Amino acid sequence: MPILVDDATTSETNRMMHRIIDLRSKKMQHNIRLRYKLTTEIRHFLDTNGFIDIETPFLTLSTPGGARDFLVPSSMNKGSFYALPQSPQIFKQLLMVSGFDRYYQIVRCFRDEALRADRQPEFTQVDIETSFLNESEIREIAENLFLSIFKNVLNIELPKLPVMTYHDAMYYYGSDKPDLRIPLKFVDLTSPLKSCSFKVFNSASNMPKGRIVAMTLPNSVSLSRKELDEYTKFVSIYGAKGLAYIKVNDINQLNEQGLTSPIVKFLTEDELKLILEATQAKNGETILFGADNGKIVNEAMGALRVKIGQEKNLMTSKWQALWVVDFPLFEYDEATQTHMACHHPFTSPKDEHINMLTTKPEECLAKAYDLVLNGSEIGGGSVRIYKSDIQAKIFEAMGISHEEARAKFGFLLDNLQFGAPPHGGIAFGLDRLAAIICEADSIRDVIAFPKTTTGQCLLTNAPSTIEDKQLQEIRLELSLSNK
Ligand code: AMO
Ligand code: AMP
Repeated sequence: MPILVDDATTSETNRMMHRIIDLRSKKMQHNIRLRYKLTTEIRHFLDTNGFIDIETPFLTLSTPGGARDFLVPSSMNKGSFYALPQSPQIFKQLLMVSGFDRYYQIVRCFRDEALRADRQPEFTQVDIETSFLNESEIREIAENLFLSIFKNVLNIELPKLPVMTYHDAMYYYGSDKPDLRIPLKFVDLTSPLKSCSFKVFNSASNMPKGRIVAMTLPNSVSLSRKELDEYTKFVSIYGAKGLAYIKVNDINQLNEQGLTSPIVKFLTEDELKLILEATQAKNGETILFGADNGKIVNEAMGALRVKIGQEKNLMTSKWQALWVVDFPLFEYDEATQTHMACHHPFTSPKDEHINMLTTKPEECLAKAYDLVLNGSEIGGGSVRIYKSDIQAKIFEAMGISHEEARAKFGFLLDNLQFGAPPHGGIAFGLDRLAAIICEADSIRDVIAFPKTTTGQCLLTNAPSTIEDKQLQEIRLELSLSNK
């Protein structure tokens, strides 16, 4: 045998090269069978609730926005290409116009994007769409599906899910997918420290989008010098220039005896008092600080929160799910200097923000929601735009010209005029959900034939070069540039 079955020392590369043998292992047999149980439960729930499974095309039109498309040349249509769908989004919306008011599909999606541990170039969505329901009604169906999966697949009764706004998620946890198993929370010190004497805090609190946050670790977590250095190095990956800290020895001594810290000497007694009161820190606890532009602080301190939670065993429970709602409609992309849709361009703005679409796009909120489980985004959806004039305005706000919108999305805009019902939906990432439920380290462990992080299948060696004859059939010549 090229590899031993059930041998924990076999590298993942070897496991993927010899996948057929690897699939015999107890772990893979368990995961693939549990994944099947999961899809069976999902189908059962959706069938019982009146949803019907409708297939949509894999060979379809390339549309702008989103990730890069995988392209497929057409031999019958010289010079033309299909794109593999990144999701059935537009088709499921058009099915609503056709009167199939409860649709679902367990469907493969394709995205040519940079791969991370929880991403695959082809992955499976549980794709759902329904007409005539509002945001909370759609969330309720999705939540009931989620809870029934836990009950019927794992025999676990989870409570109803808490709902948190995107603003609060970023403000308190620095992430739009907070892991609520970890009991650490940011305290925002940006405005209290506006006139702070310490230059790092002063400059962060006075930059346009600057932010200062403090995160207090319980006294069970005492960090050594070495660990603090390691954490400082860790936050620097996200662009943080340092990691200030205060170890509270004696809360009543506002000096270098009472507080072990490299920054105490830069702070006045009033500022120290303010920090200790705001954080409610007690003797024995350590306060960590992030100060910079908000994006860096959120990413660095958000990731550090998760790292410390995991490394220091701070998890308070095994499963913690929540809804994150009220996402911004757009995010501004500095590189292209355009507004990009945060979710996708078919997402409805909140009713009260429709008249700000072109004047203050960055302030518009969306009727969009994500389902987060243990710090992982396992599903996302929205209420859609069902009026073609508002849809056209969104394309305009995104800098897509009228001509381009007609050329790329004419089939959607036209059909929205023929009696489109209000509609919305959600898609769950089945691989991610299966990986969490199987307690797998990677989504590759719940996929029979996964790809590596460079998009290769080590069993078949796809992707591969092709014969000249095949290129001739599709009338293409290759000229590869190194750029
Ligand atoms: P979205 O792009 O958020 O929404 O995708 C839905 C869910 O799919 C999972 N997912 C992935 N899983 C593995 N590998 C990937 N590369 C990958 N990309 C996404 C995530 C995510 O939450 N059409 C909309 C849904 C809707 O609005 O109804 C959509 O595709 O778990
Ligand atoms: P410095 O004056 O740059 O030596 O920094 C003093 C202390 O502040 C050190 O402990 C640094 O790790 C910390 N520090 C520096 N920059 C930042 C920052 N942007 N956010 C948080 N802490 C910082």
